[in-house]
Amino acid sequence: MIKTSFADAAGRALEGIRAEGRYRTFVPLARQAGAFPAARLHGRTITVWCSNDYLGMGQHPVVLEAMHEALETYGAGAGGTRNISGTTQAHTNLEVELASLHCQESALLFTSGYVANEAALTSLGKLLPDTVIFSDAGNHASMIHGIRQAGVDKRIFRHNDVEHLEELLQQVGNRPKLIAVESVYSMTGSIAPLVEIVRLARHYEALLYVDEVHAVGLYGAEGGGIGQALGLDGQIDIVQGTLGKAYGLMGGYIAGRSVLVDYARSTAAPFIFTTAIPPVVAAGALASVQYLRRSGRERFIHRQRVLALKNALREAGVPFRDGDSHIIPVMIGDAVLCKKVSDTLLQKQGFYVQPINYPTVPRGTERLRVTVTPQHSEANIQELAHALGMLVGVKKTMAAA
Ligand SMILES: Cc1ncc(COP(=O)(O)O)c(C=O)c1O
Repeated sequence: MIKTSFADAAGRALEGIRAEGRYRTFVPLARQAGAFPAARLHGRTITVWCSNDYLGMGQHPVVLEAMHEALETYGAGAGGTRNISGTTQAHTNLEVELASLHCQESALLFTSGYVANEAALTSLGKLLPDTVIFSDAGNHASMIHGIRQAGVDKRIFRHNDVEHLEELLQQVGNRPKLIAVESVYSMTGSIAPLVEIVRLARHYEALLYVDEVHAVGLYGAEGGGIGQALGLDGQIDIVQGTLGKAYGLMGGYIAGRSVLVDYARSTAAPFIFTTAIPPVVAAGALASVQYLRRSGRERFIHRQRVLALKNALREAGVPFRDGDSHIIPVMIGDAVLCKKVSDTLLQKQGFYVQPINYPTVPRGTERLRVTVTPQHSEANIQELAHALGMLVGVKKTMAAA
């Protein structure tokens, strides 16, 4: 009986999600190394327009070669948690490289960027019991969960509003403070005013934690992120990043002062009680990070492609949020229409852009989150802009239907 009630409740909840037009379906792609951003889907060739493999490093020969070699050297899995036989030289070499990339004393790997945020913010947040955490209203779910689990006081400041942040900082006197922000916000493409935030953190003696997940590999002379691009190397207390987006692999990390990183290593349950990422992944990530430190070519072409796509969308009359970064949200504002536009693009044109719905974004702000890579051609860009223009541009054919 009780089991049936669980199943009934799950069924009803799913019906509700479907009725709101935000039921999520997988698109099972057959990615093809060497052909990205083309992929196979149900026997057809399609073009992917929503990958976070921003630079196509997931198929880069340097990365693949390092992974083949690591597979032969280490075998498949890590064989344990980091503390119990799961640490290899591939892991420690990558941590040394990441610390150096961010001009920090140490770095620590986690199984994903999500886990890194949740674990590090929980651990550091509750280190001093009277701490207040100041969190940007646009922060990612992983940061929100980490902050919540820290169980200390928090203040949410309006997105990227440094005046509001300062107002809130002034209200808490000399209690320990931690400011948590992203550098590039993943759903709007906006960039944080990091110079100002660093100044406030210094002035109010707050620990500054910056999620550079959507910036590492892409910004800064060596791909160190927005902090590096703005000359803030070493001025951010904890930099958090992922290996799963511009670096083309998976895994997350934090980098910062040794004593703080070591504290997270020694106390964060999501670090301690889980199997380490496979050494083959760590070796591939190391190759990717090292490659993008010395080569600016991919970043250069990427920037050009982003500008070209924004121009093409503008010409086609497509409404998008121009947030200074590479992320291009095409605003639709309705879950059912968003899914319909996405389905039509895939079925008719073979363009895959995933609809983004609540709870990832607030209701009424549903969007297509378009990402372009150095591997998308000028012709690809024109075709997508044209197709989107026909569906949601000035003609608004689909919106009117
Ligand atoms: C801002 C931000 N932080 C963290 C994460 C989680 O990173 P990962 O995909 O490596 O778990 C994401 C994922 O998209 C993100 O957008």
